[in-house]
Formats: sequence, C-alpha cells, structure tokens
Amino acid sequence: MCGIVGYVGHRSALDVVMGGLRRLEYRGYDSAGVALPHEGRIASAKKAGKLVNLDGILAEHSLPTVGSGIGHTRWATHGAPNDRNAHPHLDAGSRVAVVHNGIIENFATLRDELESSGHEMLSETDTEVVAHLLRDELDRTPVASSDEAEGTALPDAVRAVCRRLEGAFTLVITDAEQPDVVVGARRNSPLVVGRGDGENFLGSDVAAFIEYTRDAIELGQDQVVAITSDDVVVTDFDGRPAETTEYHVDWDVSAAEKGGFDWFMLKEIAEQPQAVADTLLGRHSAAGLLQLDEMRLSDDELRNVDKIIVIACGTSFYAAMVAKYAIEHWTRVPCEVELASEFRYRDPILDRSTLVVTISQSGETMDTLQAIRYARQQRARVLSICNTNGSTIPRESDAVIYTHAGPEIAVASTKGFLAQVVACYLLGLYLAQVKGTKYGDEIGAIIAELERIPAGIQRLLDDADQVRTLAAELVDSRSILFLGRHVGFPVALEGALKLKELAYIHAEGFAAGELKHGPIALIEEGVPVFVVVPPRARDQLQEKIVSNIQEIRARGARTIVLVEDGDDDVVPYADHVIRLPEVPTLLQPLVATVPLQIFACELAGLLGHDVDQPRNLAKSVTVE
Ligand code: G6P
Repeated sequence: MCGIVGYVGHRSALDVVMGGLRRLEYRGYDSAGVALPHEGRIASAKKAGKLVNLDGILAEHSLPTVGSGIGHTRWATHGAPNDRNAHPHLDAGSRVAVVHNGIIENFATLRDELESSGHEMLSETDTEVVAHLLRDELDRTPVASSDEAEGTALPDAVRAVCRRLEGAFTLVITDAEQPDVVVGARRNSPLVVGRGDGENFLGSDVAAFIEYTRDAIELGQDQVVAITSDDVVVTDFDGRPAETTEYHVDWDVSAAEKGGFDWFMLKEIAEQPQAVADTLLGRHSAAGLLQLDEMRLSDDELRNVDKIIVIACGTSFYAAMVAKYAIEHWTRVPCEVELASEFRYRDPILDRSTLVVTISQSGETMDTLQAIRYARQQRARVLSICNTNGSTIPRESDAVIYTHAGPEIAVASTKGFLAQVVACYLLGLYLAQVKGTKYGDEIGAIIAELERIPAGIQRLLDDADQVRTLAAELVDSRSILFLGRHVGFPVALEGALKLKELAYIHAEGFAAGELKHGPIALIEEGVPVFVVVPPRARDQLQEKIVSNIQEIRARGARTIVLVEDGDDDVVPYADHVIRLPEVPTLLQPLVATVPLQIFACELAGLLGHDVDQPRNLAKSVTVE
C-alpha cells in the first residue's frame, strides 16, 4: 500500500526514483507521481493508473536531470484514484512537494484552517494540507536560522508540521529552495533509509533501493530523517537526536526480480522448498535442542505462559489457524486464534502470562500492529513471526521469529505462508521443549520430518502439469469449493482465498464436517470441489472425509481430491486425484497448500488477470 522513494546523490534522481517505484509496485497502488527540485521550483508529473501511464507523460513534462527527488505510488484512501489526487502534492507556489503514506486523521480541521487563511486546495486528499502547512512554516523559518547539524531549515519545518498532525503518516518532502536535502518523517507507517556511497535513499521498504545498497537504517516512531548525499541525520519530532538501528539486508537485487518466470508469484511458489529450508536453518543444535536466537523472552517467562492468542490477517491468519492445532497438541497450552481487526474491539482477556503471537509477512499490517499495541498495553507478552527485517511489528514486539522466505513481491502470499507455518511449528516445539511437554527425541523426530518437507514440495512442483491442465479444464467455473478437516480446514480456506484474490471467482472453504449444516446446499451438477484428505495415520478423520466425498459426489459435485501417496480409499469417489507426499498430519499444510496455489495462479493467468497485482488488493495494508 503506497510506495515511497526519496533520493539525494550523484545519479539522475528521476531514474533512481522511477526504478524504486517499480520495485515497490507489488505493494499495490492506483496512481503514481514524481517531483524534482529544479531552479527554485518543483518539476513534477503524476498520473492515475500504473507506472506505464506515468512513463507515458514523463516525456511531455521534460523533467530535468537533477540529483535529488521523490516519488510515490498511491493506494487511494481519501479521494478517488485520479490524476488530481495522485501524489506528489505541492504548495500554491510549487516550492515544496510532499508524498505520503497513511491517513492524517485531523486533516479536515487543518484544511478548514488553511482555507480560511486563503489557501486553495486542489485535491480531495488529506496529504495536500501538509504541503500548504510546510510552505507556511518555511516562510516563517528562514534557512539561516536552522541548526548547524543539518544546515537546512527543511527538517525544522517538517518537525513543526509533524507536531500538528494526528494519525498515521510517512512523509517524504523536497524543497526547491533546498535541493540538496530530502526529508522524511515517520509515525506508524513504514520508512527505511538506504545508506550509499555519496548518495542516500529513503523507501517504504528496502526493495526501493536494493539495486544500489544493502545497508539500511530502521527508523523509529515519530522520527524525522534528513538525507543529503553524504549524511543522514535522524531526530525526534522536537529535534533531539534519535537512536536508530543499522542493518545489512541479507538478499540482493536478483531476489527481487522475476528470474525468468512470467510472474513473481510463480517464482515465489518455486522458491518454497528453499523458503522452508531457510526458515528451519540453524534453529536446532546437533543434539536436537531447538534454539531461536531472536527469542528475547526467557525460558522462565515462557514456562509461565498459560494462554496463547495468535493474531493475524489474510493468509497469515490461516497460518495462525494451523499454529493452533500444532501448539495445543505439543504444549497443552490453550491457544486461541483471532483476526487482528477483531481482536482489540472485543475486550479480550489478557494478562502477564498471556503470550500474544502475531504473524505478518510484511510486518506493517496496521490491524496487526494496533492489535499488538493493545496487547502490550494490557501487559501481555508479544512475539511476532515476520518476514521483513526492520519492519514495525517485530520492532514493537517483545520477541521475534523471522521467517527466511526472502522478499515476497506478488500480492498474494505463497512462500511467505509456508515459512510462517514452519515458524509456528518451531515456536510450538520450542514451547514444548521449555515446558517439558515433549521429550527431546520426539522434538528431534518432528524436526527431521520438517527437514524432509522441501523435497516433498519440490516433487509437487515437478508434478505441477496435471494441476495446470485441471485449471484449464475448470477455467469457466463460476464457483469452486474447498473442503478440509483438522489442519486441512485452514488449507481449504487458503485455497479458496487464493482463487478469490487472483481469479476473481466465487470460492469458499469449509470444514468438511460442517458440510451437512449448510454448504451442501451449494452442491449442484458439476460444481468443482477440492477436498484435502488427512493422512491415513488419522484414520478417524480420514474415514469421515471419505463419507463427505461420497455425499457431495452423489449430489453431482466434481471432486478433486488431494490425498497422500498410497491412499486409495478415496480414489473410487474422485474425479481427479492430486497426490501428496506422505507427511505427519500436523505438517500436511506445507504440502497440501502448494497445488492449490499453482491452481489459482494458473487459472488467473488463463483468465488474463494480473497475477502479481490483483485488482483492489495491496500487499502491505497500512491502514485499518
Ligand atoms: C494483504 C495481502 C495478503 C496478506 C495480508 C496480511 O491482504 O494482500 O496477501 O496475507 O495482507 O499481510 P501480512 O503482511 O500481515 O502477512
């Protein structure tokens, strides 16, 4: 959601900014724009639609080649996604340009105040007020009066304006009178700094500048950063020097490129064996003891945990559902699962011995972030499972388990999900180790099974042609259903979500046992139904699902059955069989999800949809 880039250095700022915006496209957006300071005025261009539209008008605008600039991809909140509301927003004299991610909650009051003092607003956005406020502030604050450390008044003006803003905002600003500096500000919405050699960068995430540098700085809450070509100065909103954390990004530009695949999503599906293996890597000793190095909670604190609540949104929520089955089974600690957007509004019961676990690929989802803030206020401990180093959610948590899936660019999560599920298992096993609810050799045996999973996924990838053929056969379906039991239930939900997200066709996932309580009414001649069959080891579950398959088949459903190798009990009732590698029941989501991802991706491609950036969706949802 909203991508931001800022640059100061020796290259053409327009090239750097446009390149950065391209790498941030995956966040989701509906308009884009750039601004460059040139000869005392801002030169800018902005356009509704994808970056290709902006490219189309750049030539007409003949933007200058200068060494600093800012850019933005906008995901509309206040005001329609049209040219006028696209960012950057300028003051009346075109001296400053502002890009923004977030929502300025008191913008109506500020707008009234500005209009009554003669400012004319040209857009319906909350952002435009910032440009006008800044201009007033810059007129009030001569450059000469600024403090020596920054040698410029723009940071002073930005701080003064930030103190007046309420809500969530990342702002990045350029001033045509001070072209050597670009200033960013951050409250709640993401912003990171890239440190180069004779150049510095700002970005919503490191993908914006990964082509040029892998050295990054995390910004904290309520901080203002001023970058010049050779300096980065960070303060709080009152101008006091602020502490920051520097880190080195452990992936490079090739990880953020398609590498020969038609879609990022296909590449990310193919990377899943590696994502699972990397997330397991280094997490247990030769003696079989689990070690989670980012676990900042002591064993004593964990031993005292008497309730776990796992919170997440979207696909991550389905990883949370899988976590519940595994954590309760291995630790015997009650585990609830809750949608982040519901959590804090229902007055949940939390105390010092509650462990709140959040799962977020991006680490920036606003619903999840607000949920952990609420949990911490209620004195609960918060552990986050996250794929993005330096993002807000892990920074605000008591402990973190990073998934090592690498950058996930496609909006619909795939490798991020599998890596989250692995991290949930690691957490469950670690708690079992600390609480003594599993013996070391039992934990070691599960780890050994987990280590075999990448090969199982690889086999599914190698056998994917049958799934592609199936997608071609079902391309005209109006509705597709998914059934599962136990951990197959979240897999069914995830299969349905993928199809909705990518193919825009009606899809629903159900717990197979619930079929008779309603969903069976949806079954009519020819409706495709995917059924995830539990491994034979869980014979009770398995028998029940075989009955469910018979019930729907008798009513005309076209059954597509995902079943482990060697299990032939369901074959007589299956129109199509997808074979899964044999794995323990609790680990089955790691393999059963993969064919469903491939199916949705293929079907969406056949329908001519943009697989990586589905309509109306954003990768990183930074508003509530
Ligand atoms: C958005 C994305 C989903 C993702 C969800 C949660 O809706 O489109 O793919 O599952 O956010 O994101 P998170 O980054 O918190 O895992």
